[in-house]
Amino acid sequence: MNVMTKPVADQSGWSLPAWTYNDAQFMALERANVFMPAWHLVCHVADIAKPGDYQTFAMMGERALVLRGRDGQVRAFHNVCPHRAARLVDGDTGNCGGRLTCPYHAWSFGLDGQLLSVPFIEEYDNFDKAEFGLFPLEHAISGGFVYVRFQAGADSLDQYLAPIAEEMGLYRFAEMEPLVPVRSRVRQVNWKNACDNYVDALHIRVAHPGLSSLVRDSYRLEVDRGVDKIYAEAGSGKSAHRSVQAYRDLLPQVDHLPPERQRTWTYYRLFPGLMFDVYPDQIDFMQFIPLTATSCILRDGAYALPDGRREMQAARYLNQRINRDVNMEDKGLIERVQDGMGTSRFAQGPLGRNEICLRSFAQRMRQTIPIAAEPQRPSHERLQAVLDESCGDAA
Ligand code: FES
Ligand SMILES: [Fe+2]
Repeated sequence: MNVMTKPVADQSGWSLPAWTYNDAQFMALERANVFMPAWHLVCHVADIAKPGDYQTFAMMGERALVLRGRDGQVRAFHNVCPHRAARLVDGDTGNCGGRLTCPYHAWSFGLDGQLLSVPFIEEYDNFDKAEFGLFPLEHAISGGFVYVRFQAGADSLDQYLAPIAEEMGLYRFAEMEPLVPVRSRVRQVNWKNACDNYVDALHIRVAHPGLSSLVRDSYRLEVDRGVDKIYAEAGSGKSAHRSVQAYRDLLPQVDHLPPERQRTWTYYRLFPGLMFDVYPDQIDFMQFIPLTATSCILRDGAYALPDGRREMQAARYLNQRINRDVNMEDKGLIERVQDGMGTSRFAQGPLGRNEICLRSFAQRMRQTIPIAAEPQRPSHERLQAVLDESCGDAA
Protein backbone atom coordinates (compact mmCIF):
# COMPACT_ATOMS: atom_id res chain seq x y z
CA MET A 1 0.00 0.00 0.00
CA ASN A 2 1.31 3.43 -0.90
CA VAL A 3 1.68 5.96 1.91
CA MET A 4 -0.83 8.16 0.11
CA THR A 5 -3.57 5.60 0.64
CA LYS A 6 -2.92 4.85 4.31
CA PRO A 7 -5.26 6.39 6.85
CA VAL A 8 -3.38 9.43 8.14
CA ALA A 9 -3.85 9.99 11.86
CA ASP A 10 -2.72 13.61 11.83
CA GLN A 11 -4.39 15.18 8.83
CA SER A 12 -3.00 18.68 9.31
CA GLY A 13 -0.34 18.36 6.61
CA TRP A 14 -2.67 16.76 4.08
CA SER A 15 -5.15 17.91 1.51
CA LEU A 16 -8.78 16.91 1.87
CA PRO A 17 -9.24 13.44 0.38
CA ALA A 18 -10.12 13.16 -3.29
CA TRP A 19 -13.50 11.53 -2.62
CA THR A 20 -14.77 14.76 -1.05
CA TYR A 21 -14.22 16.47 -4.42
CA ASN A 22 -16.58 14.28 -6.44
CA ASP A 23 -19.23 12.85 -4.13
CA ALA A 24 -22.89 13.90 -4.24
CA GLN A 25 -23.57 12.85 -0.66
CA PHE A 26 -20.62 14.88 0.59
CA MET A 27 -21.94 17.84 -1.36
CA ALA A 28 -25.30 17.43 0.41
CA LEU A 29 -23.39 17.58 3.72
CA GLU A 30 -21.69 20.75 2.53
CA ARG A 31 -25.04 22.25 1.62
CA ALA A 32 -26.50 21.61 5.07
CA ASN A 33 -23.44 22.44 7.18
CA VAL A 34 -21.41 24.94 5.18
CA PHE A 35 -23.51 26.80 2.60
CA MET A 36 -26.99 27.13 4.09
CA PRO A 37 -25.84 28.89 7.29
CA ALA A 38 -23.30 31.08 5.42
CA TRP A 39 -23.58 34.68 4.24
CA HIS A 40 -23.58 35.03 0.45
CA LEU A 41 -22.66 38.17 -1.45
CA VAL A 42 -25.30 39.09 -4.04
CA CYS A 43 -24.16 42.46 -5.43
CA HIS A 44 -23.04 45.97 -4.61
CA VAL A 45 -25.70 48.55 -3.81
CA ALA A 46 -24.44 50.44 -6.88
CA ASP A 47 -25.42 47.44 -9.07
CA ILE A 48 -29.05 48.18 -8.19
CA ALA A 49 -28.98 51.97 -8.03
CA LYS A 50 -32.51 52.80 -9.25
CA PRO A 51 -35.97 51.78 -7.95
CA GLY A 52 -36.96 48.50 -9.60
CA ASP A 53 -33.35 47.42 -10.21
CA TYR A 54 -32.76 43.86 -9.08
CA GLN A 55 -30.03 41.26 -8.87
CA THR A 56 -30.65 37.54 -8.51
CA PHE A 57 -28.53 34.92 -6.81
CA ALA A 58 -28.93 31.12 -6.99
CA MET A 59 -27.20 28.65 -4.72
CA MET A 60 -27.76 24.90 -4.34
CA GLY A 61 -31.49 25.01 -5.06
CA GLU A 62 -32.13 28.32 -3.26
CA ARG A 63 -32.94 31.51 -5.14
CA ALA A 64 -32.59 35.06 -3.91
CA LEU A 65 -33.81 38.36 -5.32
CA VAL A 66 -32.35 41.65 -4.13
CA LEU A 67 -34.45 44.62 -5.11
CA ARG A 68 -34.28 48.42 -4.78
CA GLY A 69 -37.60 49.87 -3.62
CA ARG A 70 -39.33 53.14 -4.53
CA ASP A 71 -38.22 54.43 -1.14
CA GLY A 72 -34.57 53.69 -2.02
CA GLN A 73 -34.39 50.76 0.41
CA VAL A 74 -32.67 47.54 -0.61
CA ARG A 75 -34.73 44.47 0.25
CA ALA A 76 -34.16 40.76 -0.24
CA PHE A 77 -36.73 38.09 -1.02
CA HIS A 78 -36.81 34.49 -2.08
CA ASN A 79 -37.09 34.50 -5.88
CA VAL A 80 -40.17 32.30 -5.74
CA CYS A 81 -43.83 33.13 -6.14
CA PRO A 82 -45.96 32.56 -3.00
CA HIS A 83 -48.80 31.31 -5.22
CA ARG A 84 -47.47 28.13 -6.81
CA ALA A 85 -43.68 28.52 -6.54
CA ALA A 86 -42.84 29.79 -10.02
CA ARG A 87 -39.50 31.54 -10.29
CA LEU A 88 -40.46 35.20 -10.38
CA VAL A 89 -37.50 36.80 -12.08
CA ASP A 90 -35.13 35.42 -14.69
CA GLY A 91 -31.57 36.37 -15.48
CA ASP A 92 -28.91 37.92 -13.30
CA THR A 93 -30.01 41.51 -13.28
CA GLY A 94 -32.52 43.99 -14.69
CA ASN A 95 -35.21 46.50 -13.83
CA CYS A 96 -38.76 45.31 -13.19
CA GLY A 97 -40.40 48.75 -13.40
CA GLY A 98 -42.81 49.62 -10.62
CA ARG A 99 -43.91 46.07 -9.83
CA LEU A 100 -43.00 42.41 -10.18
CA THR A 101 -45.47 40.29 -12.09
CA CYS A 102 -45.25 36.51 -11.95
CA PRO A 103 -45.20 34.98 -15.45
CA TYR A 104 -47.45 32.05 -14.43
CA HIS A 105 -50.77 33.52 -13.18
CA ALA A 106 -49.84 37.21 -13.15
CA TRP A 107 -49.95 37.86 -9.42
CA SER A 108 -48.14 41.15 -9.05
CA PHE A 109 -46.09 42.51 -6.18
CA GLY A 110 -44.86 45.95 -5.16
CA LEU A 111 -41.15 46.63 -4.82
CA ASP A 112 -41.62 46.28 -1.05
CA GLY A 113 -42.85 42.69 -1.58
CA GLN A 114 -46.55 43.32 -0.90
CA LEU A 115 -49.05 41.47 -3.05
CA LEU A 116 -50.86 44.12 -5.13
CA SER A 117 -53.18 42.28 -7.46
CA VAL A 118 -54.48 38.78 -8.15
CA PRO A 119 -56.35 37.95 -11.36
CA PHE A 120 -59.49 35.85 -10.74
CA ILE A 121 -59.33 36.66 -7.04
CA GLU A 122 -62.96 35.51 -6.70
CA GLU A 123 -61.69 31.94 -7.24
CA TYR A 124 -60.23 31.86 -3.72
CA ASP A 125 -62.19 31.69 -0.48
CA ASN A 126 -61.52 34.36 2.14
CA PHE A 127 -58.47 35.58 0.31
CA ASP A 128 -56.33 38.05 2.25
CA LYS A 129 -53.65 39.68 0.10
CA ALA A 130 -51.67 40.63 3.20
CA GLU A 131 -50.89 36.94 3.74
CA PHE A 132 -49.27 36.36 0.37
CA GLY A 133 -46.48 38.89 0.02
CA LEU A 134 -43.05 37.85 -1.23
CA PHE A 135 -41.09 35.70 1.23
CA PRO A 136 -38.52 37.96 2.91
CA LEU A 137 -34.95 36.76 3.10
CA GLU A 138 -32.38 37.68 5.75
CA HIS A 139 -29.96 40.21 4.35
CA ALA A 140 -27.44 42.80 5.48
CA ILE A 141 -25.18 45.37 3.86
CA SER A 142 -21.53 45.99 4.63
CA GLY A 143 -18.90 47.87 2.66
CA GLY A 144 -21.59 48.59 0.07
CA PHE A 145 -22.15 44.90 -0.68
CA VAL A 146 -25.48 43.18 -0.07
CA TYR A 147 -25.35 39.71 1.49
CA VAL A 148 -28.11 37.18 2.07
CA ARG A 149 -28.42 34.08 4.20
CA PHE A 150 -30.88 31.23 3.62
CA GLN A 151 -30.69 29.80 7.13
CA ALA A 152 -29.82 31.36 10.47
CA GLY A 153 -26.13 31.03 11.26
CA ALA A 154 -23.85 31.76 14.17
CA ASP A 155 -22.20 34.97 12.98
CA SER A 156 -23.69 38.35 12.15
CA LEU A 157 -22.48 39.81 8.86
CA ASP A 158 -20.23 42.23 10.76
CA GLN A 159 -18.64 39.33 12.63
CA TYR A 160 -18.16 37.44 9.37
CA LEU A 161 -16.44 40.41 7.73
CA ALA A 162 -14.53 41.65 10.81
CA PRO A 163 -11.12 40.40 9.59
CA ILE A 164 -11.38 42.59 6.47
CA ALA A 165 -13.44 45.49 7.87
CA GLU A 166 -10.47 47.84 8.13
CA GLU A 167 -9.38 47.14 4.54
CA MET A 168 -12.94 47.62 3.21
CA GLY A 169 -12.86 51.09 4.76
CA LEU A 170 -9.36 51.89 3.58
CA TYR A 171 -10.16 51.06 -0.03
CA ARG A 172 -13.63 52.65 0.21
CA PHE A 173 -15.58 49.61 -0.94
CA ALA A 174 -18.87 51.33 -0.08
CA GLU A 175 -18.27 54.22 -2.49
CA MET A 176 -17.35 52.08 -5.47
CA GLU A 177 -19.22 51.68 -8.73
CA PRO A 178 -19.42 48.64 -10.98
CA LEU A 179 -16.93 48.38 -13.84
CA VAL A 180 -18.79 45.43 -15.39
CA PRO A 181 -22.09 43.69 -14.54
CA VAL A 182 -21.93 40.68 -12.20
CA ARG A 183 -21.49 37.56 -14.31
CA SER A 184 -21.54 33.79 -13.84
CA ARG A 185 -20.05 30.90 -15.74
CA VAL A 186 -19.57 27.19 -15.14
CA ARG A 187 -16.28 25.57 -14.19
CA GLN A 188 -16.09 21.80 -14.51
CA VAL A 189 -14.56 21.29 -11.08
CA ASN A 190 -15.70 20.82 -7.52
CA TRP A 191 -15.91 24.21 -5.78
CA LYS A 192 -13.15 23.25 -3.30
CA ASN A 193 -10.78 22.57 -6.14
CA ALA A 194 -11.21 26.16 -7.35
CA CYS A 195 -10.89 27.49 -3.78
CA ASP A 196 -7.70 25.50 -3.16
CA ASN A 197 -6.17 26.86 -6.33
CA TYR A 198 -6.93 30.43 -5.27
CA VAL A 199 -4.64 30.24 -2.23
CA ASP A 200 -2.08 27.73 -3.55
CA ALA A 201 1.20 29.63 -3.31
CA LEU A 202 3.57 27.06 -4.79
CA HIS A 203 2.03 27.08 -8.28
CA ILE A 204 2.45 30.81 -8.93
CA ARG A 205 6.03 30.66 -10.16
CA VAL A 206 5.41 27.46 -12.08
CA ALA A 207 2.14 28.23 -13.81
CA HIS A 208 1.64 32.01 -14.02
CA PRO A 209 4.50 33.65 -15.94
CA GLY A 210 2.78 37.04 -16.19
CA LEU A 211 1.65 37.29 -12.56
CA SER A 212 4.96 35.86 -11.44
CA SER A 213 6.91 38.51 -13.30
CA LEU A 214 4.73 41.17 -11.63
CA VAL A 215 4.95 40.01 -8.02
CA ARG A 216 8.25 38.09 -8.14
CA ASP A 217 8.99 36.62 -4.68
CA SER A 218 6.81 38.99 -2.73
CA TYR A 219 3.93 36.53 -2.18
CA ARG A 220 3.09 36.47 1.54
CA LEU A 221 0.34 34.37 3.17
CA GLU A 222 -1.49 35.01 6.42
CA VAL A 223 -4.55 33.52 8.11
CA ASP A 224 -6.35 36.13 10.19
CA ARG A 225 -9.28 34.88 12.30
CA GLY A 226 -10.13 32.29 9.66
CA VAL A 227 -9.74 34.62 6.66
CA ASP A 228 -6.91 33.93 4.23
CA LYS A 229 -4.94 37.03 3.26
CA ILE A 230 -2.35 36.99 0.52
CA TYR A 231 -0.19 40.01 -0.21
CA ALA A 232 1.91 40.55 -3.33
CA GLU A 233 3.85 43.60 -4.46
CA ALA A 234 3.44 44.79 -8.03
CA GLY A 235 6.83 46.46 -7.52
CA SER A 236 8.89 48.35 -10.05
CA GLY A 237 11.73 47.59 -12.45
CA LYS A 238 11.81 45.92 -15.82
CA SER A 239 9.67 42.99 -16.90
CA ALA A 240 9.77 41.08 -20.18
CA HIS A 241 6.00 40.74 -19.95
CA ARG A 242 4.46 43.67 -21.85
CA SER A 243 1.25 44.07 -19.85
CA VAL A 244 3.19 43.86 -16.58
CA GLN A 245 5.70 46.46 -17.72
CA ALA A 246 2.96 48.81 -18.91
CA TYR A 247 0.96 48.33 -15.68
CA ARG A 248 4.01 49.16 -13.60
CA ASP A 249 4.77 52.21 -15.71
CA LEU A 250 1.22 53.57 -15.77
CA LEU A 251 -0.31 52.76 -12.36
CA PRO A 252 -0.78 56.24 -10.85
CA GLN A 253 -0.72 57.41 -7.26
CA VAL A 254 -3.93 56.61 -5.38
CA ASP A 255 -4.31 59.41 -2.87
CA HIS A 256 -6.53 57.69 -0.32
CA LEU A 257 -4.20 54.70 0.08
CA PRO A 258 -1.17 54.74 2.42
CA PRO A 259 2.32 54.43 0.84
CA GLU A 260 2.65 50.73 1.66
CA ARG A 261 -0.56 49.96 -0.27
CA GLN A 262 0.21 51.93 -3.43
CA ARG A 263 1.42 48.88 -5.35
CA THR A 264 0.07 45.99 -3.31
CA TRP A 265 -2.18 43.29 -4.77
CA THR A 266 -4.12 41.69 -1.94
CA TYR A 267 -6.28 38.57 -2.08
CA TYR A 268 -8.78 37.74 0.66
CA ARG A 269 -10.65 34.48 0.92
CA LEU A 270 -13.55 34.12 3.31
CA PHE A 271 -15.00 30.73 4.18
CA PRO A 272 -16.49 28.99 2.34
CA GLY A 273 -16.00 30.42 -1.14
CA LEU A 274 -15.93 34.23 -1.26
CA MET A 275 -12.88 36.05 -2.50
CA PHE A 276 -11.98 39.72 -2.82
CA ASP A 277 -9.11 40.71 -5.09
CA VAL A 278 -8.06 44.15 -3.92
CA TYR A 279 -5.79 46.22 -6.14
CA PRO A 280 -4.84 49.90 -5.90
CA ASP A 281 -6.77 50.56 -9.12
CA GLN A 282 -9.91 48.42 -8.61
CA ILE A 283 -11.37 45.52 -6.67
CA ASP A 284 -13.33 42.45 -7.63
CA PHE A 285 -15.18 39.70 -5.84
CA MET A 286 -15.30 36.05 -6.88
CA GLN A 287 -17.47 33.23 -5.62
CA PHE A 288 -17.30 29.52 -6.25
CA ILE A 289 -20.81 28.12 -5.81
CA PRO A 290 -21.37 24.36 -5.97
CA LEU A 291 -23.47 23.23 -8.91
CA THR A 292 -22.85 19.48 -8.85
CA ALA A 293 -20.18 17.44 -7.07
CA THR A 294 -17.88 18.03 -10.05
CA SER A 295 -18.92 21.48 -11.26
CA CYS A 296 -19.36 24.95 -9.82
CA ILE A 297 -20.40 28.45 -10.78
CA LEU A 298 -17.69 31.06 -10.89
CA ARG A 299 -19.50 34.35 -10.18
CA ASP A 300 -17.70 37.68 -10.14
CA GLY A 301 -17.97 41.45 -10.40
CA ALA A 302 -15.44 44.30 -10.59
CA TYR A 303 -15.70 47.74 -8.94
CA ALA A 304 -13.73 50.96 -8.67
CA LEU A 305 -13.95 54.50 -7.46
CA PRO A 306 -14.76 57.06 -10.13
CA ASP A 307 -11.40 58.18 -11.61
CA GLY A 308 -11.17 59.74 -15.05
CA ARG A 309 -7.36 59.78 -15.28
CA ARG A 310 -6.16 58.19 -18.50
CA GLU A 311 -3.33 56.33 -16.79
CA MET A 312 -5.82 54.90 -14.28
CA GLN A 313 -8.08 53.70 -17.10
CA ALA A 314 -5.07 52.08 -18.74
CA ALA A 315 -3.90 50.49 -15.47
CA ARG A 316 -7.37 48.98 -14.95
CA TYR A 317 -7.38 47.54 -18.44
CA LEU A 318 -3.88 46.10 -18.04
CA ASN A 319 -4.72 44.63 -14.63
CA GLN A 320 -7.70 42.86 -16.18
CA ARG A 321 -5.54 41.58 -19.02
CA ILE A 322 -2.92 40.16 -16.66
CA ASN A 323 -5.66 38.52 -14.60
CA ARG A 324 -7.51 37.16 -17.61
CA ASP A 325 -4.37 35.16 -18.43
CA VAL A 326 -4.10 34.00 -14.81
CA ASN A 327 -7.72 32.83 -14.85
CA MET A 328 -7.29 30.86 -18.06
CA GLU A 329 -4.08 29.29 -16.75
CA ASP A 330 -5.89 28.31 -13.54
CA LYS A 331 -8.91 26.97 -15.42
CA GLY A 332 -6.69 24.43 -17.18
CA LEU A 333 -4.94 23.48 -13.95
CA ILE A 334 -8.03 22.94 -11.84
CA GLU A 335 -9.69 20.84 -14.56
CA ARG A 336 -6.53 18.74 -14.68
CA VAL A 337 -6.68 18.22 -10.91
CA GLN A 338 -10.39 17.40 -11.01
CA ASP A 339 -9.65 14.70 -13.61
CA GLY A 340 -7.00 13.19 -11.35
CA MET A 341 -9.29 13.16 -8.34
CA GLY A 342 -11.68 10.94 -10.27
CA THR A 343 -9.03 8.25 -10.82
CA SER A 344 -8.86 5.21 -8.57
CA ARG A 345 -5.26 5.64 -7.44
CA PHE A 346 -5.10 9.06 -5.86
CA ALA A 347 -6.39 9.59 -2.31
CA GLN A 348 -4.81 12.74 -0.91
CA GLY A 349 -1.60 14.73 -1.20
CA PRO A 350 0.83 16.47 1.17
CA LEU A 351 0.57 20.23 1.74
CA GLY A 352 3.70 22.37 1.95
CA ARG A 353 4.71 23.68 5.37
CA ASN A 354 4.07 27.26 4.29
CA GLU A 355 0.76 26.54 2.58
CA ILE A 356 -1.05 27.87 5.65
CA CYS A 357 -4.18 28.88 3.73
CA LEU A 358 -4.62 25.45 2.11
CA ARG A 359 -4.07 23.86 5.53
CA SER A 360 -6.50 26.18 7.25
CA PHE A 361 -9.27 25.55 4.69
CA ALA A 362 -8.87 21.76 4.89
CA GLN A 363 -8.87 21.96 8.67
CA ARG A 364 -12.02 24.10 8.73
CA MET A 365 -13.79 21.61 6.46
CA ARG A 366 -12.76 18.71 8.72
CA GLN A 367 -14.01 20.57 11.78
CA THR A 368 -17.32 21.39 10.09
CA ILE A 369 -17.82 17.95 8.50
CA PRO A 370 -15.69 15.47 10.51
CA ILE A 371 -16.16 12.60 8.06
CA ALA A 372 -13.99 14.66 5.64
CA ALA A 373 -11.00 13.44 7.68
CA GLU A 374 -11.39 9.92 6.29
CA PRO A 375 -8.88 9.36 3.47
CA GLN A 376 -11.05 6.76 1.74
CA ARG A 377 -14.65 7.21 0.68
CA PRO A 378 -16.97 5.89 3.46
CA SER A 379 -19.82 3.60 2.47
CA HIS A 380 -22.99 5.06 0.99
CA GLU A 381 -24.87 3.93 4.14
CA ARG A 382 -22.47 5.68 6.52
CA LEU A 383 -22.60 8.90 4.53
CA GLN A 384 -26.37 8.72 4.45
CA ALA A 385 -26.50 8.25 8.23
CA VAL A 386 -24.27 11.33 8.73
CA LEU A 387 -26.42 13.28 6.31
CA ASP A 388 -29.66 12.25 8.06
CA GLU A 389 -28.14 13.33 11.35
CA SER A 390 -26.95 16.71 10.08
CA CYS A 391 -30.24 17.48 8.33
CA GLY A 392 -32.00 16.53 11.59
CA ASP A 393 -29.67 18.89 13.45
CA ALA A 394 -30.39 21.68 11.01
CA ALA A 395 -34.16 21.34 11.33
S1 FES B 1 -47.16 30.81 -9.55
FE1 FES B 1 -46.92 32.96 -9.55
S2 FES B 1 -48.88 33.72 -10.02
FE2 FES B 1 -49.14 31.61 -9.92
FE1 LIG C 1 -3.37 30.31 -10.02
